[in-house]
Amino acid sequence: VDIKKLRATTGGLITLDPGYKNTGSCESAITFLNGEKGVLRYRGYSIEELAEKAYFLEVAYLLIFGELPDKEQLAKFHKDITDESHVDEEMKKILDGFPKSAHPMGVLSSLTSALIAFNPSTVDVSSEEEMYHAIVRILAKFPVLVAWTLRKKKGLPLDYGDDDLGYVENIHKMMFKKPSKNYERNEVVIEGLRKLLILHADHEQNCSTSTVRIVGSSHAGLFASLSAGISALWGPLHGGANQAVLEMLEAIERDGGDTKKYMAKAKDKDDPFRLMGFGHRVYKNFDPRAKIIKKAADDILDDLGIEDPILDIAKGLEKEALEDDYFVDRKLYPNVDFYSGIIYRALGIPTEMFTVMFALGRLPGWIANWREMRLRGEPIGRPRQVYIGPTQRSYVEVENR
Ligand code: ACO
Repeated sequence: VDIKKLRATTGGLITLDPGYKNTGSCESAITFLNGEKGVLRYRGYSIEELAEKAYFLEVAYLLIFGELPDKEQLAKFHKDITDESHVDEEMKKILDGFPKSAHPMGVLSSLTSALIAFNPSTVDVSSEEEMYHAIVRILAKFPVLVAWTLRKKKGLPLDYGDDDLGYVENIHKMMFKKPSKNYERNEVVIEGLRKLLILHADHEQNCSTSTVRIVGSSHAGLFASLSAGISALWGPLHGGANQAVLEMLEAIERDGGDTKKYMAKAKDKDDPFRLMGFGHRVYKNFDPRAKIIKKAADDILDDLGIEDPILDIAKGLEKEALEDDYFVDRKLYPNVDFYSGIIYRALGIPTEMFTVMFALGRLPGWIANWREMRLRGEPIGRPRQVYIGPTQRSYVEVENR
């Protein structure tokens, strides 16, 4: 449909689609999703294969630049990132200003914005080279901010990474290294992180990615767009669901593990309670990521020798939902967040940090969408509305109201 022509001939006909349930906002060559069949592919590669075999940085490169890198391209990409991993010392003062109790997502969004002041060359970018520069900078500095956010929460000193390590290994070390102790590398945890980060790396036009695209469409810089995306991800209906799921599972456990009681609450239309981690705007079948994560949760808990009663509660809820008419009729299946919190907990990550881990994984997808939007020269995002307020009224002085 030629929108310009349509507008000219109808005198302003618009579509009204609250929540954009059936409205495309862009054309994209990044991620393919078939919600009916439960298929997810990054640039044509199945999520199952990438989660099994790829490095996280390979996936990041693939999403952002369109192809898997060859050895040299990957080595250069990694080096360019490593070379930019320094975060200005002054940033620590900003972090210092937050109370320890601050929610890590608010802290991360603020720090990402604050980073602009120390990297002004990343703002006004239009050439591919300038974009590349901004991209490697944020891929380098974001994990440091994530690690600092966690370390601040735990009262640990703020360190930098280790240039000799792989991207995910470095993240693990930055997050978990204890002062006065040798760093203990844990392959099971690193492998779990790699898988989770890849599974979260992109998911086409979700709430946070659309936010990044729309903010970027005004030609605000990459970091400003990402900071807005982090805020969008924070909400419990989106990325914040992973924290909400774990809190829900803990509450059910404290309440004696009666999953049937919570199933009934979720179905009661007078009760605002929803079964967190169930349902998805696009998937009307199993979220393919949830399948992989469920298996990974089993493996990781097994490898680490952890018996977590919460995993049993989660499996119980899933089983009941799959046999329940309410959930079956509405095609409500577990989504990516249903089991991820159980893994994060097993990896030693505090509950409030779960959505931060999601942001760390989603970073390449946000960047890829921002870059695609800019390179395609997309117009500024500016939806229309249907006005339903009063028609014309005359102003009345305050004393006469
Ligand atoms: N528990 C109980 N009922 C639910 C749930 C749930 N988790 N999810 C949807 N429903 C019901 C709704 O009440 C509605 O019922 P109705 O037709 O009788 O009115 C029907 O299913 C359709 O739900 P909508 O809210 O209209 O679906 P929408 O596409 O707008 O929302 C969403 C999708 C936000 C994910 C929703 O399913 C939800 O709130 N889930 C829980 C939160 C969650 O897990 N979010 C993470 C999503 S994945 C991600 O962002 C990474």
